Amino acid sequence: MGSSINIRESRVKVIDEARQGEATMGNATPENPNGKLLYIESYGCQMNFSDSEVVASIMSKNGFSTTKDLDNADVVLINTCAVRDNAELRVRNRLTEFKKRKSDNPNLVVGILGCMAERLKTNLLEEEQLVDLIAGPDAYRDLPNLVEEVGSGQRAVNVLLSREETYADISPVRLDTGGVNAFVTIMRGCDNMCSFCVVPFTRGRERSRDPQTIVSECVDLFNKGYREVTLLGQNVNSYRWNMTSKGEVKDETIQTTNFAQLLEMVAKVSPDLRVRYSTSHPKDMTDEVLEIMAKYENICEYIHLPVQSGSTQVLARMNRGYTREWYLNRIAAIKKYMPDCAISTDIITGFCGETEEEHQETISLMKEVRYEYAYMFKYSERPKTLAERKFEDDVPEDVKSRRLNEIIDLQQEDSLYWHKLQIGSVKKVLVEGPSKRSEEEWCGRDGRNSMVIFPKENFERGQYIKVKITECTSATLKGEVVEVLERNGLSPEFVV
Ligand code: SAH
Ligand code: SF4
Ligand code: F3S
Repeated sequence: MGSSINIRESRVKVIDEARQGEATMGNATPENPNGKLLYIESYGCQMNFSDSEVVASIMSKNGFSTTKDLDNADVVLINTCAVRDNAELRVRNRLTEFKKRKSDNPNLVVGILGCMAERLKTNLLEEEQLVDLIAGPDAYRDLPNLVEEVGSGQRAVNVLLSREETYADISPVRLDTGGVNAFVTIMRGCDNMCSFCVVPFTRGRERSRDPQTIVSECVDLFNKGYREVTLLGQNVNSYRWNMTSKGEVKDETIQTTNFAQLLEMVAKVSPDLRVRYSTSHPKDMTDEVLEIMAKYENICEYIHLPVQSGSTQVLARMNRGYTREWYLNRIAAIKKYMPDCAISTDIITGFCGETEEEHQETISLMKEVRYEYAYMFKYSERPKTLAERKFEDDVPEDVKSRRLNEIIDLQQEDSLYWHKLQIGSVKKVLVEGPSKRSEEEWCGRDGRNSMVIFPKENFERGQYIKVKITECTSATLKGEVVEVLERNGLSPEFVV
């Protein structure tokens, strides 16, 4: 039985709160349909979108068909983000809307998943009675039971965090429409304790997923027509399989794998399977990873390397574990291995105690690196974090906003600078589908992650073409197709 699911997808925009957004859909096929319809909506980072695909898979195995029509849903799940206050505000507004629906349909089950569920735990049940069900990021296997408990008149909660759960054996139901790019989660949790960040509290301890299951998932995706995978984790550079954080082997009978080795394993699946990853922490970005990136043409020359601030003093207060100089040394290493590599970043303005001079250091670092792209945010104090306990959130709101606007303006100039540099060059583009503006113009990304627009002609999704760039804006490149590339299959060792 065919069905579909409605899910919110992040869109890339240079504004605060860029990472929540619009809707896409996909299909799930329940093995034992129970006649119940599930609607999921997701907010936050790519990990949350990836988790919603795991949730869709778990629910589908338990008989739930998925729907993109909220009006028909029996169960509504909202997968939430807690990273900034306004992310939570949006979810609260949405939950209030769902509550109205519940008064029309008392049998409707409304559940909250993800980081905000983990952060607030039972508060949402007790104080505001907004939801029937609460499940944290490590509790999704329990969702069918939780829904059943609600059906029998109880409120259901599971917010236990796990040291082991990686959902390694679950084959996610892909929720995107295009069928070209897929997210593959390689690790969960975060052990870094950046002082501003709520993620270690909402997602628990860091743990890596079995590399064989990652490679099998990528082979399966390739067989289903996908041509790009993004390996996901809060800090992918600290991926380690069968190794402790000190590098000791856990089990002598099993091979160890670090992130560079995992990248290579995935890159070997097929020369036509593009590999990206997100996010890298600068303190763990090794030359070994850069060497592997430079060695394989299908590992995209694009690195998201969040700096957060250009000031060593601010970085120390943020507990980031590196200095401005260390960061710039990593940028130099990237350029040494891959002179053409695109680099993007995350920046926070107005962190506790940030002086005008410290803000200027962020501006000067941006001028030095010239990022291709940046996600920029005003600091938002989060309960229980180190910063909330230790420092005062003392930069006035108007100063935070002014500093944010300054870096946004600078970034816009830099994005345009990079795009103008591409005019006249020929880019290898993976065809993704119609552009936002018109059915006649299609789009796809180049290896540096720029969106390229070209005339539709007869191209198909998942095909590689070469496009000569003729014009640009700060957001996109535009050009004409000069070559259609031959297709490659799976590498021989993966063909069964
Ligand atoms: N693991 C990733 C980041 C995850 S959160 C990393 O370490 O790079 C994504 C981004 O949100 C962060 O990079 C940071 O720029 C921003 N962010 C996190 N907590 C924030 C807060 N309290 N206020 C404002 N921005 C925040
Ligand atoms: Fe948060 Fe830092 Fe972990 Fe990223 S590395 S998720 S910013 S604690
Ligand atoms: Fe948000 Fe949780 Fe991701 S707090 S950014 S959804 S890990």
